[in-house]
Amino acid sequence: MIPRFELARLELPGRVLVTLFVLFMGGGYLSALLQLHGTHPSRDDVVAAFHGSPTQTRLLFMARGDMRQNLKSDEELATLEKWVAAGATAETFEPVQKVLAARCIRCHSEGKEKEDAPLDSFEGAKAQTRIEPLISTKRLVALTHIHVLAMGCLFGLLGAVFCATSFGPRVKLAVVVTPFLGMMLDFSGWWLARLAEPFCDLILVGGLLTGLGLGGLVLGTLLDLWILPRRDLFS
Ligand code: HEC
Repeated sequence: MIPRFELARLELPGRVLVTLFVLFMGGGYLSALLQLHGTHPSRDDVVAAFHGSPTQTRLLFMARGDMRQNLKSDEELATLEKWVAAGATAETFEPVQKVLAARCIRCHSEGKEKEDAPLDSFEGAKAQTRIEPLISTKRLVALTHIHVLAMGCLFGLLGAVFCATSFGPRVKLAVVVTPFLGMMLDFSGWWLARLAEPFCDLILVGGLLTGLGLGGLVLGTLLDLWILPRRDLFS
């Protein structure tokens, strides 16, 4: 018989190495999730990012986020929100124009830092209220290729380690495949959501599945390294 590599047979240094490896990978993924949670906290934010949402146009997304510091009060933000909610028409633009002129055009006008996104005219402001994905196609291409490569390596290595545990082949197959399946749903969702809003749910389901799969890989490996070999101690 061909001798198989098994985690349970590793000496202490090997066990500690594998433990640190899975903890780092799991911890890295967890911190990425927490960071993501800061930017996409709800379904509506996922819709805004990948499909486009009438309540979260680029104007409001920025005014609530990075550009909030330029606004002096909640009323000014409410003025922008009301205008967008009412369809961002020329007739209701006047109060908005005052806010933009006072707080925004020193950067968002010709010759200034952000002249490519002018806010000194109705047309310019209106352009920032288009219902379109907040993540541009160019950025999505970059995000997709980075994630495919990075996640492929991460789950490939963790899966290889998991295959050396003492779990049965069915458990191994399920745990090894789940995060890949989750990422495939996630990535398909990223792109399909541009076509139709319901595909945003693929992103949420995919993310959940990926998290579950990763949890299974990390916890299963730790269990096999440290708990299962000591089974007799508990009986
Ligand atoms: C100090 C300069 C400055 C001020 C003042 C400022 N912005 Fe910006 N704005 C920027 C810069 C720089 C960017 C690009 C950085 C980024 O995308 O995060 C930007 C990006 C934006 C964008 C996205 C444009 C795009 O094409 O991606 C919007 C919308 C926006 N700002 C709205 C506002 C609003 C509304 C105000 C007033 C409340 C405001 N900004 C005030 C500098 C400024």
